[in-house]
Amino acid sequence: MDWWSNSSIYQVYPRSFQDTNGDGEGDLVGVISRLSYLKSLGIDAIWLSPFYLSPNNDGGYDVQDPRTVDPRFGSMEDAVNLIKAAHRSDLRIIVDLVPNHFSTEHQWFKAALKSLPGSLERSRFHFYDGKGEGGAIPPNNWCSIFGGPAWSRVIEADGKPGQWYLHLFDSTQADLNWENNEVKEDFEKTLRFWLDKGVDGFRIDVAQGLVKEEIFKDHRDPEGLTRALRLDVSDMDRFERESLLADVPFFDNEGVHEIYRSWRKILDSYSGQRMSVAEAWVHPSSRAMRYVRSDELHQIFNFDFLIAPWDAEFLVSAINKTLSEVGQVGASPTWVLSNHDSPRLVSRLGGGELGRQRAKAMALLTHGLPGGIYIYQGEELGLEDGQLEDKDRQDPVFFRTKGVDKGRDGARIPIPWSSQLSNYGFTTTKPWLPIPSDWQDHCVEAQVDGDSHLALYRRSLHMRKLLSRQLPTSNEITWIDTPKEVLAFSRGDDFLLYANTGGESLELKLKSDSQIILASSAQAQLTSGTLTLPAESTVWLGKITK
Ligand code: BGC
Repeated sequence: MDWWSNSSIYQVYPRSFQDTNGDGEGDLVGVISRLSYLKSLGIDAIWLSPFYLSPNNDGGYDVQDPRTVDPRFGSMEDAVNLIKAAHRSDLRIIVDLVPNHFSTEHQWFKAALKSLPGSLERSRFHFYDGKGEGGAIPPNNWCSIFGGPAWSRVIEADGKPGQWYLHLFDSTQADLNWENNEVKEDFEKTLRFWLDKGVDGFRIDVAQGLVKEEIFKDHRDPEGLTRALRLDVSDMDRFERESLLADVPFFDNEGVHEIYRSWRKILDSYSGQRMSVAEAWVHPSSRAMRYVRSDELHQIFNFDFLIAPWDAEFLVSAINKTLSEVGQVGASPTWVLSNHDSPRLVSRLGGGELGRQRAKAMALLTHGLPGGIYIYQGEELGLEDGQLEDKDRQDPVFFRTKGVDKGRDGARIPIPWSSQLSNYGFTTTKPWLPIPSDWQDHCVEAQVDGDSHLALYRRSLHMRKLLSRQLPTSNEITWIDTPKEVLAFSRGDDFLLYANTGGESLELKLKSDSQIILASSAQAQLTSGTLTLPAESTVWLGKITK
């Protein structure tokens, strides 16, 4: 079996993990210093968000040089040491690849600015003349996903406004032209560069976005489209949203698959099972499976749970859909509850103690499903989004929407390690985002007791590993009839899972003879074949052979 099919992969957002050089931001030596913590969680691999040279306008997703480590994070030697140290602890390393755009500080973009319209240097990006008098209107009306227009105009050598370049995200993230062979070659070089350094895989940023079509055609509702893409849709009609998302001119075009087929050949040419996982929001989600056909990428993040309400009916249909879709191409399912772009799980499920209780139950449900799981740093601590003042915000989404969308900083607040140390042990100086003053109970060090969020994650991740050796290798689950606020399934003969998304505790008569192996609530009980399933809780039953 491939190592990733059932693996637990932990996302480290290095900037917010552990500072060791006293600049208020995390670094690679900090990740090395916390490897024993990561190992103690029971994970199999670490995915590192970008640590490459970058002006850091979008948390490092604005890459200036993908083959250089940003001094803020350390050195290339630190990166290699991290890969080696992780491997010694039997942890794999996945790094981020950001192929949709380069920072405008990348040497290619600087060269493009100095070159003439129509030049080779400009053809690596999407530079075009504007429309209307003097070319003052952008080539089309697309909006940036971060807000505002998707085009910026440059000043030419004669000092006059000239061509426009495309940026689907921040104006400092210029979209690359994937029809240009140099772009393809450069990314192949980057893949080989990190594979040679020993990484086990890549997370592909905006994997659906590389190939653009209809670049001179206006969109019928560009602002609606970007709001739909940013999930800023509370007042948008559901059908309108679906119709907008079903036809995004810059996403999910056929040409991306040829790129992934060529990358797959490179990955396969290396020993040691190197893998790739796509970040690709596509609509309808059934199209996602096209990215993980047997000669393309290995996994795709399944974001259904990232936006799912804590509701049994919804979750059952999301699980069925995912399992049947991946089944069609023989790939393994994945489950994602949070990441650096989304609200934290506890906040999304209502916040406070109720949110935390639901988040535990949702995690235990997810960890009991067949397939791979991705955990975002701090999810295991039950952290909530931190409240920030606008003056502290750094996300370009906040600036480009003029504060209408507060952005993603709340979920990026540094990890609180210990309340005994200043800045919770994250840094010895001012952290890049303020850490809430009431996070004492959520620190790693404070969560020693058996009921804590962290203890539950540790237990479920370790048990998941044991279970994966014992349960059928197929991704099949068998649903069990339950009241509508409950979902329950079995996997093989040895594992049953019950999740109660309702607000009332329930008594359920079980048919099979099993015992509780893990529960998100201490009130769960099994007496004479009757399961007491507390409100907002998940229970695992069965037997585990150690
Ligand atoms: C990353 C974001 C980033 C965007 C642009 C993504 O989807 O996860 O953090 O802002 O790509 O690179």
